[in-house]
Amino acid sequence: MTAKVISGVEIGKEIREEIKSGVNKLIESGCKPGLAVILVGEDPASQTYVKNKNKSTIEAGMKSEQIKLPATITEEELLKHVDNLNNDDSIHGILVQLPLPSHIDEDLVIKSISPDKDVDGFHPQNVGKMMIGQETFLPCTPHGIMEMLERSGIEIAGKHAVVIGRSNIVGKPMGQLLLQKDATVTYCHSKTKDLASFTKQADILIAAIGKAKFVTKEHVKDGAVIIDVGMNRDENGKLCGDVDYDSVKEIASAITPVPGGVGPMTITMLLKNTLQSAEIAKR
Ligand code: GUN
Repeated sequence: MTAKVISGVEIGKEIREEIKSGVNKLIESGCKPGLAVILVGEDPASQTYVKNKNKSTIEAGMKSEQIKLPATITEEELLKHVDNLNNDDSIHGILVQLPLPSHIDEDLVIKSISPDKDVDGFHPQNVGKMMIGQETFLPCTPHGIMEMLERSGIEIAGKHAVVIGRSNIVGKPMGQLLLQKDATVTYCHSKTKDLASFTKQADILIAAIGKAKFVTKEHVKDGAVIIDVGMNRDENGKLCGDVDYDSVKEIASAITPVPGGVGPMTITMLLKNTLQSAEIAKR
């Protein structure tokens, strides 16, 4: 079997068209959705993410505000910037790019963002709402993965989903969203013993480990659906995921590539959350 390739580029394009028409409707009624992104310091990966977010926000027809601050900024000054954006009616979504320099308390900054503008879905109030299935902003990467599964016609209810990784941004919320769609969920992580004995049972396997080509054929059941959240460089400096794509695609029923899989979906869902926030503000 050669796996069906689930393209985040294609699915993302479809959703961005839907977002654009939602944005146009709002603009006609006098409200332009706005997203503000704060970048602290000069981390090259973060700079690239922020640049891409800015470009995509403008392409969607939204207002994009970028605030670039030096790595030496104090926590107090950063909180003041967040507070200004909390009180700015032209801004419906606020994202503080992580990680932050070590002298700044990340949890405190996340908590300072108004839950009504927390389009990352990281505020503890929104995490709590997600846990009990109430409407809220869902974290962009797991939300994007749910869209990819659903729009590819992959059944979730009753399936065994195995999530490798337990970060607050991806692994933990991923398991919750799959559980809400009636999957049986297993979490694996760096301390899991005999990892393959769990991953081999997965109908849907989510790899969010951060190690190049870590998941091999030996970890995968025939016909499984493989979602690769990884973004790494291989030994030749080439972009690759957490999954050994070439070997795993021979036995999987569906697989996401890297690049062009989960990555483009994350920004798409950020735009979707920003539109949702503006629509709520307009009510
Ligand atoms: N850094 C890496 N991924 C993310 C994300 O989804 N949101 C924010 N704010 N920072 C990140």
